[in-house]
Formats: sequence, structure tokens, C-alpha cells
Amino acid sequence: MESLALIGLQWGDEGKGKVVDWVSARFDLTLRYQGGPNAGHTVWVDGERWVFHQMPAGILNPNIRVAIAAGCVLYPETLFEEWERLDAEGVEYRSRTIIDPRVHLILPYHRLLDRLRDEARGKARIGTTARGIGPCYQEKYARYGIRVGDLFSPKLSDRIDVLLGYVNPILEKVFDQEPFGRQRILDDLLAVRDRIRPFVGDAAEVVKEYLAQGKKVLFEGAQGFLLDVDHGSYPYVTSSHPGTGGISSGIGISPKSIGKVIGLTKAYATRVGAGPFPTEDEGEMGCKLQELGNEFGAATGRKRRCGWLDLPLLRYAIRSNGVDGLAVTKLDVLDDFDVIKLCIGYRRSDGSIAKEITPWDENPGEPVYEEIEGWRVPTDGVRSLEELPDRARAYLERISRELDLPLWLVSVGQDRKATIVLPDFPFK
Ligand code: GDP
Ligand code: IMO
Ligand code: MG
Repeated sequence: MESLALIGLQWGDEGKGKVVDWVSARFDLTLRYQGGPNAGHTVWVDGERWVFHQMPAGILNPNIRVAIAAGCVLYPETLFEEWERLDAEGVEYRSRTIIDPRVHLILPYHRLLDRLRDEARGKARIGTTARGIGPCYQEKYARYGIRVGDLFSPKLSDRIDVLLGYVNPILEKVFDQEPFGRQRILDDLLAVRDRIRPFVGDAAEVVKEYLAQGKKVLFEGAQGFLLDVDHGSYPYVTSSHPGTGGISSGIGISPKSIGKVIGLTKAYATRVGAGPFPTEDEGEMGCKLQELGNEFGAATGRKRRCGWLDLPLLRYAIRSNGVDGLAVTKLDVLDDFDVIKLCIGYRRSDGSIAKEITPWDENPGEPVYEEIEGWRVPTDGVRSLEELPDRARAYLERISRELDLPLWLVSVGQDRKATIVLPDFPFK
């Protein structure tokens, strides 16, 4: 099967955008299958920075088609902003972009509710991206949602009435906000409909056809597996399924359509928003990681919390997603450290060491670190494993051995070109 799932194994921001852009040059179709503009996927090409929240990050490769599949949620304004930039920079996307009719629309009050609800949680705040993700998925599952395909239905106006009958009392009575009027929402949605019409198509059908023709399909993960609503650090999670489990239902294809799975991890760890992060380093070293890694959220600009690579949590994410090979990103950020810490296990209260933990375990024990001597040589110009300083190579080989997976890609810089491809990578 000529397909590859690219999955973030941590809490998001593993460098998926960079790797998706690089891999897409070798593929025919790249799809987002879940999540929405809570994602921020950064791509650097020729010294220019792009951040994709809604469009699949492969779009800058001229020969690829991209799709936003059924399991995604879409905020049209953000999509249109991305289109405007593509237009301004002469990137053709009109003939190459598919938006599935089953995608749910994020409406302006979803964003308002997201913010108000998170604020109302006080100390238990999740620190969402305030992009309306939770409220939109909530209405989808409660069967109030408005989908892209509904924009073309004569029943649209009735659907809005049903929705507002539920939403306005919440806005008014719980949050003391003005109610939303049907006409305002309808007018906005009709404008969206006119702009989006040429792009609407069945993404699942396209995937099935492409795979039948032997074309290559890339499933672009967003967020990270530890943020999965069922399998992550609930309630400090997103509202969807970032892992391989989300692909089949999120597109509408057989799970057997997933050929290989590449798992992405930074060479250290970050998390944006609240929630457990056992290997977080709140001291000097964490600050240094934040600075050197330029760790600011690509969606919200918030500072990312930083810490050390957590092998036990990675093992959990790897086994849960059927990962076949690893991409380790941001290795270069560690270039300037005398000592690098690596969490190899968790000491339980009975003194035993756990080699794997789950993100929902509230008492996983104390992280056990091994201190590794840094290499203190720049790696950003390196393009092969052999050229890497010995200690950097040993660090990577250690990770690969501990996780019992081949290394497929190593990223040593934000640019496309700063990528080391290992011989085992199946899509050269
Ligand atoms: P994503 O959400 O997984 O796509 O990751 P983000 O784009 O939110 O965050 C990753 C950040 O790291 C972006 O600013 C990237 O440009 C940057 N980045 C990706 N890979 C590398 C790398 O190998 N080295 C360095 N220094 N930066 C990288
Ligand atoms: P990419 O695709 C990092 C986090 C938020 C918050 C929690 C819930 O760029 O890796 P939400 O807005 O989804 O309801 O927020 O999930 N979060 C992300 N963190 N990268 C992301 O996406 C994220 N998407 C959501 O910070 O803690
Ligand atoms: Mg991101």
C-alpha cells in the first residue's frame, strides 16, 4: 500500500509541518483527517515562513493534491486567509484542493464559547487554542452541527434555527452574552458557500481511487497522540483523534488503507497549554530549550513548556499507533548543551522501574533520567548520519534502540533541506 501516516507522538508541534512538506514532494495526495485551526504547521521554503492551520502543509509542492477530510473542523475565515497568502505568492491551489462535504464548520460563537468556557474553569483551565474546536466537535456529536455540504441544502436555514434554539440560551443564560441571530449566521454561511463551492468533493473517494491506481497518499497528522480525547491526558486534551485511529473514520476509508506509519518526536519535549508533563524542566535548562528551540506556539504565540524526551510515554504512543519508523526533529536545538537528559523509566512507589506509562496515569512515579554528554558542535548543516558528531549519532541510535524502531528521518533545521534521510525510509 503506497500510503504513509505521519503521527505526532508527543503533545503536538513535533515538526509535522516541516516533515509533511518534505515528504509531500514524493507523494501525490496529502490529507488532513482530523482537528482544525488549533493546528499550526510551520514550513520554511527559501527563507520564507508559512504556517498552515487549515490547509494541508504539503500544498507548497506544486505536483501534489491536498484534501481536508470529513473528520476535520473548518473555520472558513482562517482557510481564506491562507488562500489569500497563496494567491499573493502565486501558489496555485484551486485545482489541487478538495474539501469534503462532511467537514463541520466552526462558527464564530464556537470561538467565543471556547474562550468563555475555558476561562470559567478557573484553575482547571485547559489552555485551549480558543479556536472553537471543543464546542464545534461537541455540537457535531450532539448532532446540531453545520457541515460544508449543508451549505448547499435548502434546509440550511431550518438547521440554523435548531442550532440556535440550543445555543442561544447557553450564550444568554450561562455566559450573559448577546444571542446570535439566524440572519447573520445565514448571510455569513452563504458567502462561505459561494467561495467554497468549487472545492467541495468526496475526499474518501479520491483516496480510494488514488490507492487503487498505485499513487502515494500521505495522512497528515495534526496535534499529537498524547492529546487524543480518549487516549491522552484527559481532560487536558483536544477534542479529536490525532493518531492512526483517527485516519480511517476521519476520512471514510478502510484501516487497511494505512500502509506505513512514521512517528514524529522532537529530540526533547514540549507542551503548550495545561496538563501533566512529567519531564518538564522548569529550570535554566528548560528556559534554554525554549529559547534555542524558539518554542512559541504556531497557532497562539504562547510560550511552550519545555523538557526532556520521555521514552516511556513514547513507547505508549508508538504501540498505540503501530509506528514503523521514527522521525526525530530539532536535533540541532541540543547542539549547545553540555548535558542532555533522557527519561528512561519511571520509579514506582514500590521501587520498581516502569518502562512504559500512560498519559492518563496521574501517579506514574518519578522520572528516572540518564545524563548524556552533549556534542557541542553545530549539526544544522549535516545531511547524513555519518557526518553527525559521534555523540549526536549515539543519542539518536540510543533512542532508536530503546524504542525498537528504525530511524527514518532526522531533522536538523527548520528548512526543507535540513533533513537527513536514513536508508530504511521507504519513500525516498
Ligand atoms: P507542527 O505543529 O508539528 O507542524 O510543529 P510547529 O510548526 O508548530 O512547530 C515546530 C517548530 O520547529 C517550527 O517553528 C518549525 O519551523 C521548527 N522546526 C521544525 N523542525 C526543526 C528542526 O529540525 N530544527 C529546528 N531548529 N527547528 C525546526
Ligand atoms: P499541532 O498540529 C500543540 C493543545 C492546546 C491545549 C489542548 C486543547 O500544531 O501540533 P484545543 O484548542 O484543541 O481544544 O486545545 O490541546 N493543542 C495543541 N498543542 N500543537 C497543536 O497542534 C495543538 N492543538 C491543540 O494547546 O492544551
Ligand atoms: Mg504546531
